[in-house]
Amino acid sequence: MVGTDVDKAVDCLNEGLLVAIPTETVYGLAANAFDANAVTGIYKAKNRPQFNPLIIHTNSIERLLNWGLQLPEKMLLLAKHFSPGPITFVIPKSDTIPDIVTAGTHAVAVRIPDHPLTLELLAKIDYPLAAPSANPSGFVSPTNAWHVHEQMGDKVAYILNGGVSRVGVESTIISFLNDTPKLLRYGGISIEQIRSVIGEVEDIPAHSGEQILTDNPVAPGQLARHYATKHQLIHGDPKKYFQYFASDRIAIIAFSSIYAEIPARLQKVLSPERNLDAAAQQLFAVMREIDTWDIDVILAEKFPDEGLGRAINDRLKRASLKD
Ligand code: TXA
Ligand code: MG
Repeated sequence: MVGTDVDKAVDCLNEGLLVAIPTETVYGLAANAFDANAVTGIYKAKNRPQFNPLIIHTNSIERLLNWGLQLPEKMLLLAKHFSPGPITFVIPKSDTIPDIVTAGTHAVAVRIPDHPLTLELLAKIDYPLAAPSANPSGFVSPTNAWHVHEQMGDKVAYILNGGVSRVGVESTIISFLNDTPKLLRYGGISIEQIRSVIGEVEDIPAHSGEQILTDNPVAPGQLARHYATKHQLIHGDPKKYFQYFASDRIAIIAFSSIYAEIPARLQKVLSPERNLDAAAQQLFAVMREIDTWDIDVILAEKFPDEGLGRAINDRLKRASLKD
């Protein structure tokens, strides 16, 4: 069932059921984080490996303190600037948080999402929501209620419809487990924005995506292959690949360019004005749409490595990897 009834969503969650919630980044598949059974349901519904921990969502910093969490100074500073918003903080876990949420690790990821319906919902419950993106593990994340319905419709008790997600890529994840804060995932808040508030931040190593993108328990869940499309996707300068696919039907995901070599109807431009925020918002919906076309291969441009361009490149790169 789908609708905008926050109380209905609350009732379902109180009963231990799964509810899809809108956020400014992507839709989440939510359950009561304090109810281990309900959280198990998330892993099952997504077919998610048990070693991949979940982010907990709430509507205020004060509540995190009430749940026994210790909040580092720099996290508080960032939260002051960017929360509610597309940023997730990895901090030491407290006993209140069930082990299943953190996949047995001693750290928990917390976020205050910025969506009016979900903030209203969070204010009406006395527990945090564990919520991964509302897609089957490994696939493209949903940015509207219909995407959720298509992939997870039979797994959720209710889809709270909050329209199209404003940011369109997931939250930035930053870890506070070491002295120097460390980026774990590029997302809706850029590293430039983060550095402007807290200074030194350890970046994700360039060209060693695989190192942090593996399922090693040190940086759990930054799974390499992700955001998979049905069709092969190649991430790089499309022109370089035309000759290899000369007899194939090629689709293109571009920032602003149109390629004369390819029929216009097989090309998607994410932002004619070359605005990276606007491009990020379109990205997942475009990947889904192109995947329904009668084509052989998707060529996706490399975006400028700045601002949300980093998150776009990260998602496209992972979509391009083989199992
Ligand atoms: O924007 C978002 O963050 C969305 C919305 C729904 O809030 N959520 C989301 O969740 O993207 P998910 O589960 O699809 O991705 C969360 C990522 C995973 O890669 C997971 O491994 C990582 O966060 N993560 C969660 N808890 C962690 C922890 N304790 N330590 C390190 N990484 C963690
Ligand atoms: Mg996800």
